[in-house]
Amino acid sequence: MKVLIVGSGGREHAIAYSVSKSPKVEKIYCAPGNAGISELAECVPIGAMEFDKLAQFAAEQKIDLTIVGMDDPLVGGIVDVFEEKGLRVFGPAKNAAILEGSKAFSKDLMKKYHIPTAAYENFDNAKDALSYLETAKFPIVLKADGLALGKGVLICNDLEEAKAGVQEIMLDKKFGSAGNTMVIEEFMTGREVSVLSYVDGKTIKTMTSAQDHKRAMDGDKGLNTGGMGTFSPSPFYTKEIDEYCQKHIYQPTVDAMRAEGRPFKGIIFFGLMLTEDGPKVLEYNARFGDPEAQVVLPRMKNDIIEVMEACIDGKLDEIDLQFEDNAAVCVVLASEGYPVKYEKGIPITGFENFKGKDGYYCFHAGTKLENGQIVTNGGRVLGITAKGANLKEARKNAYEATEWISFANKYMRHDIGKAIDEA
Ligand code: AMP
Ligand code: GLY
Repeated sequence: MKVLIVGSGGREHAIAYSVSKSPKVEKIYCAPGNAGISELAECVPIGAMEFDKLAQFAAEQKIDLTIVGMDDPLVGGIVDVFEEKGLRVFGPAKNAAILEGSKAFSKDLMKKYHIPTAAYENFDNAKDALSYLETAKFPIVLKADGLALGKGVLICNDLEEAKAGVQEIMLDKKFGSAGNTMVIEEFMTGREVSVLSYVDGKTIKTMTSAQDHKRAMDGDKGLNTGGMGTFSPSPFYTKEIDEYCQKHIYQPTVDAMRAEGRPFKGIIFFGLMLTEDGPKVLEYNARFGDPEAQVVLPRMKNDIIEVMEACIDGKLDEIDLQFEDNAAVCVVLASEGYPVKYEKGIPITGFENFKGKDGYYCFHAGTKLENGQIVTNGGRVLGITAKGANLKEARKNAYEATEWISFANKYMRHDIGKAIDEA
């Protein structure tokens, strides 16, 4: 089989790694890819939003399966473009990717189908939002409706902050048209867990759990980022919690999408908060998490191609999804200054240390090849992942491996997986 992966981050590198292990696959392409992915795949210089060019490439190269890793192309309808041309593609159609593309849509869906989530109101103008806030309880959470690189969520401690937030999102349009509509929701407290799942339109099979670390600095301080590190499984995601979520959240979400005439095929990523009143949905994503994929996929025992094809063909019920009985930790090596301002183009050394080391992975997020040298090309540069018999061992291994890599402005958190000690 020939496979095309769309995207260029650590998540797509982890997907490419899984795809490369499938005995069914002869050749992998990635558009646009990065320096690390190019060791497993032929990178083609087509952007993830260039749907027609991508479809033309897939048709010309007789690609058997295209896997879309990123949210923007999915929400923009890349799957519809491929399907119209008779090309086989893994991911939700545009009318289903709205589950991630519009927070107002997903909140209304959860309300209609009684799926546990924070209480909320949607607003399409600033005047109503501001007058609602006058009598609201604080802290409160403001969310831009559309995609905003994970940055469109503001937690406001008082009325002043919330008013400034409405100004930013709805009037100044800090997140562009993503802020035409806004969700205002109740502030919840609890531990966060990410649960990714495969879905074939009617059946859902969840993967092993994970936890991300969204803030830039140790102790969950600093700005929100795309994610500074992950561990899997989450020791706080117990069997009882899983049973509750299967019954009240996972299958009901899939059934709701089907009932709305928007059958979902692909990955649903459930961002959950384990509150005192039980697990509640923080958000849905329509794709693998980044860097959740980097700790979940290396632990998956199945052939990823078989699972994805079963999703496309509506045969996921025939798959016995299995994960290794171990743990993995991913520490992101970022450029100092991320997520605000940072230098790029800095040479990276030490990749050879990963050669032949089973259970250690150096996933590239923001790198490129320049005159034969791999250099930094983004805020998140590498995802250093290691497995271990348990979480503590995996964390020790991952932090050891972070020392194998050097670049001048290397920055990382030193407390990824600290919560493991409280379990
Ligand atoms: P989201 O993009 O919706 O996952 O939000 C980003 C982050 O904001 C989440 O990972 C949470 O840490 C936080 N957050 C979102 N919604 C709430 C909420 N209702 N209560 C408390 N924290 C929230
Ligand atoms: N790690 C969070 C995300 O992928 O949205």
